[in-house]
Amino acid sequence: MTQSSRILGVGKYLPSRAVPNTELEQIKALETTDEWIQQRTGIKSRHYVSEESGTDMAFEASKEALANASLSVDDIDFIIFATLSPDHYFPGNGCFLQDKLFGNRPVGALDVRNQCTGFLYSLAMADSLIKSGQYRHILVVGAEVHSRGLDFTKDGRSVTVLFGDGAGAAVVGPTSDNHPGILGHALYSQGKHADALWLEYPCNAYDFYISQEDLDAGRHYPKMNGPTVFKHATRRMVEVSKEVLKKTGKTVEDIDVVLFHQANLRINQMTASMLKIPEEKMVNTIQWTGNTTAATIPICMCEALRQGKMKENDLVLLCGFGAGFTWAASLLHW
Ligand code: ACO
Repeated sequence: MTQSSRILGVGKYLPSRAVPNTELEQIKALETTDEWIQQRTGIKSRHYVSEESGTDMAFEASKEALANASLSVDDIDFIIFATLSPDHYFPGNGCFLQDKLFGNRPVGALDVRNQCTGFLYSLAMADSLIKSGQYRHILVVGAEVHSRGLDFTKDGRSVTVLFGDGAGAAVVGPTSDNHPGILGHALYSQGKHADALWLEYPCNAYDFYISQEDLDAGRHYPKMNGPTVFKHATRRMVEVSKEVLKKTGKTVEDIDVVLFHQANLRINQMTASMLKIPEEKMVNTIQWTGNTTAATIPICMCEALRQGKMKENDLVLLCGFGAGFTWAASLLHW
């Protein structure tokens, strides 16, 4: 019989340094205001690292997730690490996390490069690996250090104000007592829109890895066509949410909790309204975390639990959209 899987525990880590919009307002070259940021995105504040690396944050979030699952590190037999801001170009963050968490015990580690849908793609992989009997307990982590790679001038302001640093983790394992666990996923990408949201340099696609001219032109900072991303995000999130519901034989009315990727509060409100999901079913953290990319959904799970909004067996819709473009949804019983 195929073994179903479920999320057994979640954890998060946010750096202690909170950076409110009013602090960004003080950076003259950025030319932004608290009012603009709140009106367009819903963000009031975000966290920036001081000394931490992405794997340092992932380590803390993983420990919390293990404690929440009442499991120890000895129970974990595979790591999936989603990030777009790895500590180093290579090796991947999964290897650094293996070292921090497991020391001398070798454990398989897979790095996932799917930006804002990284956690959802990773969850789908973990679910399949458990269902196929390959592994029993998998640690799925998303962590991002954005603040060290943003353009704090007017050229980068539409991207810079959106992002924050942080990590979230989930322990995925087998279900027991007929708990239905994770029901299904839908995963998509469409690379023709890659340059609507990307970090072009440094790269191996052209003759130059990065030239002085590229550095002077700020091509090593993320670039985004905000209105294009916004338009595609709402359309695709609605589509993929409906698909995962249909595929699993559920309806919008069956959903108890909605956890969307945190890119823009307005995107989430519009998507919920297009799906006819009441706002009370949604949990958002973007107001005080900004967009932590692969970490947003596990951070939202922690917050939903903290608020008492997500209870055993609740039907939970997860959905996200981001660079690639990629978009994805998962439906599961908590
Ligand atoms: N502060 C002040 N003014 C700003 C800022 C800022 N931070 N950023 C842009 N502006 C200005 C622009 O220069 C422009 O000025 P102009 O009219 O004089 O030319 C004006 O505000 C409007 O700019 P738009 O880009 O059209 O603003 P928009 O209303 O679209 O909001 C935003 C921008 C918030 C970025 C929005 O487009 C958005 O949220 N897009 C989606 C973001 C997203 O989902 N990203 C995906 C996830 S990230 C990932 O996957 C890695």
